[in-house]
Amino acid sequence: MQAVIVAGGLGTRLRPLTFNRPKALVPLLNRPQILHILDRLPKSVDEVFVAVNYLYERVRDALHDAPLGRTVEVVEEPNPLGTAGAVKRLGDRLEGTFAVYNGDVIDSLSFSDFLAFHRKRRALATVALHEVEDPSPFGVVGMDGTRITRFVEKPAAQEAPSHLVNAGRYLFEPEVLDEIPADVPVSMEREVFPKLATKGLHGYPFTGYWSDAGTLSGYLASMSILLANGGAGVGPRAKVGRAKVDGAVLIPDDCVASGRIGPNVVMGPRCRVDDGTVSNSTMLEGAAIEAGGVVRGSVIGEDSTVGPGAVVEDSIVGDGARVGSGRRVIRERMA
Ligand code: GTP
Repeated sequence: MQAVIVAGGLGTRLRPLTFNRPKALVPLLNRPQILHILDRLPKSVDEVFVAVNYLYERVRDALHDAPLGRTVEVVEEPNPLGTAGAVKRLGDRLEGTFAVYNGDVIDSLSFSDFLAFHRKRRALATVALHEVEDPSPFGVVGMDGTRITRFVEKPAAQEAPSHLVNAGRYLFEPEVLDEIPADVPVSMEREVFPKLATKGLHGYPFTGYWSDAGTLSGYLASMSILLANGGAGVGPRAKVGRAKVDGAVLIPDDCVASGRIGPNVVMGPRCRVDDGTVSNSTMLEGAAIEAGGVVRGSVIGEDSTVGPGAVVEDSIVGDGARVGSGRRVIRERMA
């Protein structure tokens, strides 16, 4: 069976991390996030196309050498065609029922249950759905039994037809491709699903975990989920003897830490915390927190430094940056 992973977006909501790397390669638990998605596809999905526009070569090169255990072809999209246009462009190469996955979502969806549901309903298309407390940042569905009757993208909270949101995982019959115009940007969520809602679009709600890692809060939620599901650990040669380590953390061998680490902290290779405090955050490779520095709810970019006594909260610090001594980088929370 074949799958298309749409991984070509600009990832503006993860800037500045995505100024110089595609979102698919933003490290999540020290691995490009697209690898977590490939991991969860069963072996029966033996051919995967990864559709990329932005920074295509980076994705191609990163996946070229990865041991993936199946055929994975990174396909260049010369200009961004949107989430549906990217799939249409591969139409000639797709046969039979195929899967489409967003490249920025972490989940525990069972592919085999999803496929069994799709086949049993003889659906034209099936969208995996997940229940969330606040559906307003997502695509929200209205249902009649298992049929999706409405598809509303990012509704105002009081106008959401339910709390079931598009999980970014689809199973399609080839006829879906007939609903997508060729060679122009087309959005699956805004243009194709509303059309399919009258023709056999089913929804498959699943429980377990799901998180959209394309925003800072979603990225950190994805990090916590993966830490809680077997991703935590402290390398035997990590120098953490002088640190108070609390809750789920991932600290590789060549890190040195003192101060307070955790809960929910991922350190990349060669990270250093010198009597600092870090919680609910990821430090990418080579990042450092110097004496008394505090990092909460944030991502610290590669080889960046949080200086002595500086505070970083709810923020993304880009690669190679230095937050000066005593500075405060605190993003205002949205109301
Ligand atoms: P933002 O700029 O932060 O909204 O991110 P994004 O551009 O990645 O958009 P969004 O999160 O809505 O995209 C959902 C999924 O579709 C992600 O995996 C994107 O990489 C992918 N995607 C979005 N637009 C395109 C596109 O034009 N082409 C391809 N191939 N993939 C896309």
